[in-house]
Amino acid sequence: MKLRTINGLDLRGKYVLLRDDFNVQIVDGQITDAFRIEQSMPTINKLRDMGARIAICAHLGRPKGERNMAYSLKPVADYMGVKLIPDCLDKDFMRDMHDGDVVLLENVRFYAGEEKNDIAFASDLARGFDAFVNDAFAVSHRAHASTVGVAEILPSYAGDLLASEIEHLSAVMENPKRPLLSIVAGSKVSTKIGVLKALAKLSDKLIIGGALGTTFNYATGGNVGNSLYEADQKDVALEILQYAREQNCTVLLPLDKGVAKEFARDAERVNKDFTQIEDDDIIIDAGIATTERDVNEIKKSATVIWNGTVGMAEWTPVWSYGSFAIANAIAEQTRAGKLESIVGGGDTVAALTACGVKDDVTYVSTGGGAFLEFIEGRNLPGIAILAE
Ligand code: 3PG
Repeated sequence: MKLRTINGLDLRGKYVLLRDDFNVQIVDGQITDAFRIEQSMPTINKLRDMGARIAICAHLGRPKGERNMAYSLKPVADYMGVKLIPDCLDKDFMRDMHDGDVVLLENVRFYAGEEKNDIAFASDLARGFDAFVNDAFAVSHRAHASTVGVAEILPSYAGDLLASEIEHLSAVMENPKRPLLSIVAGSKVSTKIGVLKALAKLSDKLIIGGALGTTFNYATGGNVGNSLYEADQKDVALEILQYAREQNCTVLLPLDKGVAKEFARDAERVNKDFTQIEDDDIIIDAGIATTERDVNEIKKSATVIWNGTVGMAEWTPVWSYGSFAIANAIAEQTRAGKLESIVGGGDTVAALTACGVKDDVTYVSTGGGAFLEFIEGRNLPGIAILAE
């Protein structure tokens, strides 16, 4: 898909509404991972250098159309060192702007019209601007006023981050180096049916792990004890396995697990295979044999796509074992020039960061849901509207 980009535009003195995805985790007013903000900076700086007057529009969390200051973007404005405009529909700030100035508009989801893609709200948001630039790949799967509505009103363009996401993800989907291994984990089969099928079609091998893998183990007759899994997704899991066979994709399910008697960070870890798991065991991480198998599969691959941690990766060091082993193996092979690696999803990227290997991966997507929908081949409305 060819997108209209900002290259070659004359934006000096023009008011640009820039959509960024600053939906970052904030704990006690502090941003815990600024990856999305940092990835947005090159486009912001490019627009500044072009002399544009930039108002960034963004959301944080799901305040459900209400002005709830727990979802204020103030910590993001402070992090960036820019002024926060307390109401995203306010236009007074425009009078004081000079070429290259940047402000951040308060959470656009404080208005119910945003998620409804309300035309009147989109018109209010667009008023006074000369152009719209969407650099928020991570929210482009949502047909909201700030992704689609304003793009229907203003001359609209893709920012460099959005264009780069499309370029990297398209390249791996259209012409991957083989063998291609996909690793999908996470909690729910129901949210990943589409992406599992798409990756089964695309990949030579597919590792299914985490609680997602537990559902597949359950579906294929394994005892999963008192673990988190979806009993009602048994038929769906079996159908996905059948589909993968038809696509000549080898699916690799967990062989063993790290289990405990309680779901707690400090619980005692025991390694068990599926014949050993007892009814009161709770699966919390991938097991030793599974992890060894996963690392070997990564070493045999030319491309890896990874989404979803295979255990409670934030419960370091005991329960991060499986996820960190995958992160480190991917990084090692990529550093050695033997692997093209694409990683997406908030928890997965957080695992890379915790291992200190985020910069060793070929491409890290800023998208979570958008990353999955793009791989699934779905139409992302915020991107489709920017097509040439
Ligand atoms: C994300 O964090 O994946 C995006 O910002 C989209 O957020 P949403 O799922 O609340 O729409």
